[in-house]
Amino acid sequence: MAGLTETGDKLNEFMPSEDGRKPVVVVDNVHVEYRVHAAGRKAPGTGRSLLNRTRGLRTVHALKGVSFMAYENESIGVIGSNGSGKSTLMRALVGLTPPSQGAVYAASRPNMLGVGAALIPELSGEKNIMLGGLALGFGKAEIDELRDDIVAFAELEEFIDLPMRTYSSGMQARLKFAIAASKQHEILIVDEALAVGDQRFRQRSEARIREIRENAGTVFLVSHSMKSILDTCSRVIWINKGVLQMDGEPKEVVAAYRDSRK
Ligand SMILES: Nc1ncnc2c1ncn2[C@@H]1O[C@H](COP(=O)(O)OP(=O)(O)O)[C@@H](O)[C@H]1O
Ligand SMILES: [Mg+2]
Repeated sequence: MAGLTETGDKLNEFMPSEDGRKPVVVVDNVHVEYRVHAAGRKAPGTGRSLLNRTRGLRTVHALKGVSFMAYENESIGVIGSNGSGKSTLMRALVGLTPPSQGAVYAASRPNMLGVGAALIPELSGEKNIMLGGLALGFGKAEIDELRDDIVAFAELEEFIDLPMRTYSSGMQARLKFAIAASKQHEILIVDEALAVGDQRFRQRSEARIREIRENAGTVFLVSHSMKSILDTCSRVIWINKGVLQMDGEPKEVVAAYRDSRK
């Protein structure tokens, strides 16, 4: 797969953490450039498009040489203002966005939380649990077994036989989170998924993220909620305008980020 090298061998070349944990993800000088067609402007007063004259390929340099290593059992918060490159970095980790320079090495394929693409709004919540479960690699029998827990976690008992399109966005988000989090992921990426639910759901989601991490997973959590980050993460990286601004103790990085926004 472009942009993601799934290999344990390569990772052996990298040093373990100070307390002896193995690196599971190595991000090595990653650059991502998007090529975007700049929209044409209308000629004033004419409504005619100046597209042909002003159109051109623009390059957005979204990540500019980001490097870090993630170890087993880490829960890494990813913070930064809008447009700083957090989602781009997460997509590079799962191999969806190939780096234009540099590389990502991972011990196993990271999963992005969100089975959204696999779900079908016309189908019931029930059927979507089956679809999402299959997309995560579960067999039918396993999904049948997980079903009740997923429904309970999503708090959708009364609605599970209704088409998903009738759900509010919060209900849909809960269902997606519940499906994705039913699996013990080795490397899990959660990009802004906690922003939608109410406080109780957020707390249970955070607890589930901690559980995944305790069971030897590595979790990346992108969030604008500094509370979620502080409650959940053992380490925080701050991405600013495409560069790694700071990487360290959650309290210190969050404080520095907050200071920068005053
Ligand atoms: N698919 C894309 N095509 C073109 N530009 C993109 C695309 N995705 C993101 N960008 C641009 O890359 C930069 C980083 O975006 P993103 O990674 O979404 O930041 P964040 O998640 O931190 O808000 C922004 O300037 C954004 O406009
Ligand atoms: Mg984003």
